[in-house]
Amino acid sequence: MLQKTSDADWWRQAVVYQIYPRSFADANGDGIGDLKGITSRVPYLESLGVDAVWLSPFYPSALKDGGYDVADYRDVDPKIGTLADFDEMLSALKTVGIKVMVDIVPNHSSDDHEWFQDALKAGKGSKERERYIFRDGLGPNKDQPPTDWKSVFGGPSWSPSGVNDGQWYYHMFDNSQPDWNWDHPDVRDDFIKTLKFWGDRGVSGFRIDVAHALTKDMSGDLPKWEDLVKLTHQKLSNGNADLVHPLLDRDEVQDIYKSWRQVFNQYDPPLIAVAECWVAPDRKHLYASSEGLGQAFSFDILLCNYDAKEYVDCIKHSLKGSSLTDSSTTWVLSNHDVIRHASRFAMPNVENNKNHPLVIEAVNKWLVNKFQDPKPDVKTGLRRARAATLMILGLPGSTYVYQGEELGLPEVVDIPDDKRQDPTFFRTEAKEIGRDGCRVPIPWKADAKNFGYGPDAPAHLPQPEWLGKYAVDVEEKDAKSTLNLYRKALRLRKQLQTAEELEWVQEGEDGILHYKRPDGWEVVMNSGKEAVELPTIKGKKVLITSSLEELKDDGKLAGETTVWLKSG
Ligand code: NOJ
Ligand code: CA
Repeated sequence: MLQKTSDADWWRQAVVYQIYPRSFADANGDGIGDLKGITSRVPYLESLGVDAVWLSPFYPSALKDGGYDVADYRDVDPKIGTLADFDEMLSALKTVGIKVMVDIVPNHSSDDHEWFQDALKAGKGSKERERYIFRDGLGPNKDQPPTDWKSVFGGPSWSPSGVNDGQWYYHMFDNSQPDWNWDHPDVRDDFIKTLKFWGDRGVSGFRIDVAHALTKDMSGDLPKWEDLVKLTHQKLSNGNADLVHPLLDRDEVQDIYKSWRQVFNQYDPPLIAVAECWVAPDRKHLYASSEGLGQAFSFDILLCNYDAKEYVDCIKHSLKGSSLTDSSTTWVLSNHDVIRHASRFAMPNVENNKNHPLVIEAVNKWLVNKFQDPKPDVKTGLRRARAATLMILGLPGSTYVYQGEELGLPEVVDIPDDKRQDPTFFRTEAKEIGRDGCRVPIPWKADAKNFGYGPDAPAHLPQPEWLGKYAVDVEEKDAKSTLNLYRKALRLRKQLQTAEELEWVQEGEDGILHYKRPDGWEVVMNSGKEAVELPTIKGKKVLITSSLEELKDDGKLAGETTVWLKSG
């Protein structure tokens, strides 16, 4: 196993805090979080003890998909700030030792992107159209889409060019997000330019959006949607992972990342990148290769039920996966695409929960019925969230923390339909609620206007009354708050995360997960409801506990609790 050696390895066991800029802090009071807002909260990020921040897109965007519809990859959205604000934010973060990662969205642009507008204007057969994926429609009038494929957000994945020429463009996501044609050299060159642009400005790395979908093969006869869905399911499971798919996880995507690696290695320390790739566990190492992006998100732990055995199996295969390359694992429980984990754990465990948590039927049904049936058990959800977080923070590898989870925030479900923003909600005609509930601006001060998020206009997604209970100023004063749990754990972790070693003591039997780390550091989780007697923990020093109850050294571990211990 690799040891943490030089600054070039900073990412291996880093804690990276994800900021969703529009919902973090609004400095100028227009209701939209901005870069100056982030700068104003640098002391908070420093006190939390994170090593880096990853900023979700802050580029010019019509916000059809929360900024993942990028109109210009090398600028800042004027609604959020300027490049000068970006530099100021970066330097404020650097001063306190926090690195910055930015989001690269290479699968698609916004339909407002200059090159897409050029493509529409230049017309059928033009070289401008070749940068995207345009095809003739079917039928005598070419008024039928080229295939019956659906978009990830619902509805068709082809839209007419709108200029009456019988052509349609492909969009894996919203119709405002046309997919790039990665066979085109202009597209390849332009993204290299973007990586260098942000690299030269001083960022330390990138999160790569939909990293598994850039290269596509749309030649020949294209399959029916029904068959494509079957193929996707097969390909996502181990055993069939090497099946060739026209849209996803094609081998040649790695050539792009090899060329990006050349760019990364021109910097000192080299820039880093983490792939967002929803691929079978067996394929993840391709993205995490040190000749490519270097690291890939492991969402598997996020898909687990709250259960020690499921966690152990998942941790084992994730660690095995990262050992295939010289990468390290990433652990994630929440992000801007999924229901906050304090809420996920407040509902009963789900059978076959091995899918994207947004689309699994049970969770979606629960969201659609506004968490009424079953009613969430909020207290249990938070207790489990704290235990699961402390369990993953002890693991070797890096951890991603999504803004607000350090406050124990639950999902917001009471958002009126006319305030919703997620394209999923609109494209499925409200059959799926989408992701707005985890993107509500976070509370800073219980008694201030907009809970301290911004001084004037209400937040762009409405903040419910109850949010104040979770405000930073409330939690700062409470020694047992979730915020103080995170702060303490991150501080301790800095001293303890040395070699990337882990030895199992108990592998999930009877709800107990227990592993040892170097220098006598041990992590024990009891995922069951009831307290258990554990001779293996008796007499060991308790460094931190996820529970609200005091922990005695009597060898008993309370239910739904994780502890860090020190022996010797
Ligand atoms: C993944 C991003 O995390 C999500 O928020 C976005 O909607 C899609 N990619 C499309 O860019
Ligand atoms: Ca603002």
